[in-house]
Amino acid sequence: MSKTSAEVAILTGAASGMGEVLARDLVNKGWHVACLDIQKEAGEALVAELGDKAIFIQCDIADYDQQAKAYTQVWNKFGRLDALLANAGIVDKSSIYILDWRGKDEYAWSRNHEPAL
Ligand SMILES: NC(=O)c1ccc[n+]([C@@H]2O[C@H](COP(=O)([O-])OP(=O)(O)OC[C@H]3O[C@@H](n4cnc5c(N)ncnc54)[C@H](O)[C@@H]3O)[C@@H](O)[C@H]2O)c1
Repeated sequence: MSKTSAEVAILTGAASGMGEVLARDLVNKGWHVACLDIQKEAGEALVAELGDKAIFIQCDIADYDQQAKAYTQVWNKFGRLDALLANAGIVDKSSIYILDWRGKDEYAWSRNHEPAL
């Protein structure tokens, strides 16, 4: 394995939103970026646009084994890791102050239950 001279980042949730913007910015700054996301089509389209400094790995970050496999793949390819950007997730559009939703599996947004801001 040869170690690349450019800095290397793993970026989760890279296929859209803030992750996508971050991926573009890092590549523009000369970084190698491993873009991890569950969205295969969008992730592959992004790295096709970004060129050979970016790779896409389909990965559900909620699955430990998938993450471990992805990190190993990145290490084997680049031989270094300078940043882990744990961006993947969802935006909770509800209010944290709706106390009767706490601790429930079904969370969040309901048109019938407007957040009390
Ligand atoms: N946008 C905001 O105002 C805001 C505010 C505070 C925090 N955040 C946080 O910032 C992060 C990005 O926000 P965003 O607005 O760009 O969201 P987004 O929904 O546009 O993008 C999130 C990305 O993460 C991916 N993703 C979701 N679950 C995943 C999983 N299990 N495994 C792999 N990838 C997964 C999605 O496919 C998507 O590409 C999120 O964690 C969000 O909670 C966002």
